[in-house]
Amino acid sequence: MIQSGDCLSVRGGRLFIEECDTVDLVDRFGSPIFVTSEAQLRDNHRRFHAAFSAGWPDGPVDILPAMKANTTLATRHILSEEGAGADIYSPEELTGVLRTGVNPERVSVNGGGKSREHLRTCVEAGVRITVEDVFEIDLIEEIAADLGTQARVRFRVKPAVPNLWRRTDFSQMSVPIDVGHQVYKSGIPPEYLVEMGHRVSRMEHVELVGLHFHAGRHHKSLWFWEGLMTRFGRLIGDLCRAWNGWLPQEIDVGGGMASPRDPHNKEFPRSEFVLTALGYPFMVGLRGLGEKTYNNAMGKILGVLTGHREPKAPPTIEDYAATITGTLRAELARQGVPTEGVRLQTEPGRSLYGNTGIHLTRVKVHKRQTTPFPYNWVLTDTTVFFLAGGVLEHNRHPFVLASDVDAPANMTADLVGHSCYADQIVLGARMPAVSPGDVIAILETGAYQESSASNFNALPRPATILVSGRNAEVVKRAECVDDVYARDIIPARFGGAFTPQQGKGIPLPASVESSLP
Ligand SMILES: Cc1ncc(COP(=O)(O)O)c(C=O)c1O
Repeated sequence: MIQSGDCLSVRGGRLFIEECDTVDLVDRFGSPIFVTSEAQLRDNHRRFHAAFSAGWPDGPVDILPAMKANTTLATRHILSEEGAGADIYSPEELTGVLRTGVNPERVSVNGGGKSREHLRTCVEAGVRITVEDVFEIDLIEEIAADLGTQARVRFRVKPAVPNLWRRTDFSQMSVPIDVGHQVYKSGIPPEYLVEMGHRVSRMEHVELVGLHFHAGRHHKSLWFWEGLMTRFGRLIGDLCRAWNGWLPQEIDVGGGMASPRDPHNKEFPRSEFVLTALGYPFMVGLRGLGEKTYNNAMGKILGVLTGHREPKAPPTIEDYAATITGTLRAELARQGVPTEGVRLQTEPGRSLYGNTGIHLTRVKVHKRQTTPFPYNWVLTDTTVFFLAGGVLEHNRHPFVLASDVDAPANMTADLVGHSCYADQIVLGARMPAVSPGDVIAILETGAYQESSASNFNALPRPATILVSGRNAEVVKRAECVDDVYARDIIPARFGGAFTPQQGKGIPLPASVESSLP
């Protein structure tokens, strides 16, 4: 589980993040909590910058971490200090990132259907607007003219990728990447681009400075990036010719590289095969053999369905950077597009933040059954609703027992959360015996987990702790019950005077109030 250059280490059998004992962190800050390593974040950013710069000697390189993957402002401050830009999507992400001292010229504002107000803020702030809609440039021209300024935009393109025939990781169904890529809403279809380029060239207040392409994490392989960059380079060449010799000042290759432990879409890999081979009718058919035989068989089949084999580790940051820059440069050279002075940008999300974070949770109960077939659950005080990004992406979260990392994994259980859903965090996990109060560390949660957490069952979302060497501090406080109900307004006709915004707290019935310690 521990990798080279990791912020994690095992000392005396316990899991440390930087110089902090993870069990001590839970004792001090409570459970569950998200924990972020400052050193890992800085190191990842520096590695990205160095690796892309080595492969792109032609011009400057910018790393624009995807804010959606981690919206905690303290982590953004660290990245702004490091000189990183940002990929942002919503007006609220823009507000957040601008508060952290980022250079606005290094902010890429993505997203379709941007409102007039949002675009006005973008033009005023001087950020790069990454255009997604066919008529967005007309609105930008109007706004920039009104403000008497110049807006700099890039087109987010969507080249066809028929060369990418392997199965996309985005779908649980077996669909080739090129098809999965087409059904993703983002990017301007190629059929509109030539006309848009001519239209923007006639505008007084909008300058087209570059092209942007983000496809997402369809496949962790370098093969995927070779295919992607070949088609991007080819489209850039086609557009330069169609736009009468226009040349890009900036090329943005987006994000989509796998994070080091890559939990993405690793849930159910065997079950998919087994289900296809055996199928539901077979399982139902087994009932004909009588209840005992059926339950014996299902107990065994479930072990296979929930079982798991570790796939190969993804490429490193340096491998990704070498392939992306090497393929793009070679294709642009073939297309006759000069790269001298061109600014190269990338927008890593999971690959930059993933291993900067862990999620710590305490075991509440170890629950077992022996009939009709044996089954085990380790119930924790967290929930998949705090790890919602992982649910959407079918993550199989790597985890360890923080107090005894090397303890032999001698049982199989589902690691579950305490909401009323099945709340399966990791199905059929091999793990050591655990007791109530033990701390489990779920690894690789730095991207998309805290930023997508929700309040199902009215559960308050956990705090985030930033660790730097021996120092640990709260950078996002845990919610309390009043936060959970903060947006509720109780109409006066229900006799409820309570509105949490007024800071009154939730009145409890007198009988409950008097029984409290
Ligand atoms: C435009 C854009 N850039 C970058 C990213 C980050 O992607 P990843 O986390 O896969 O690196 C995203 C994520 O969806 C995105 O939409």
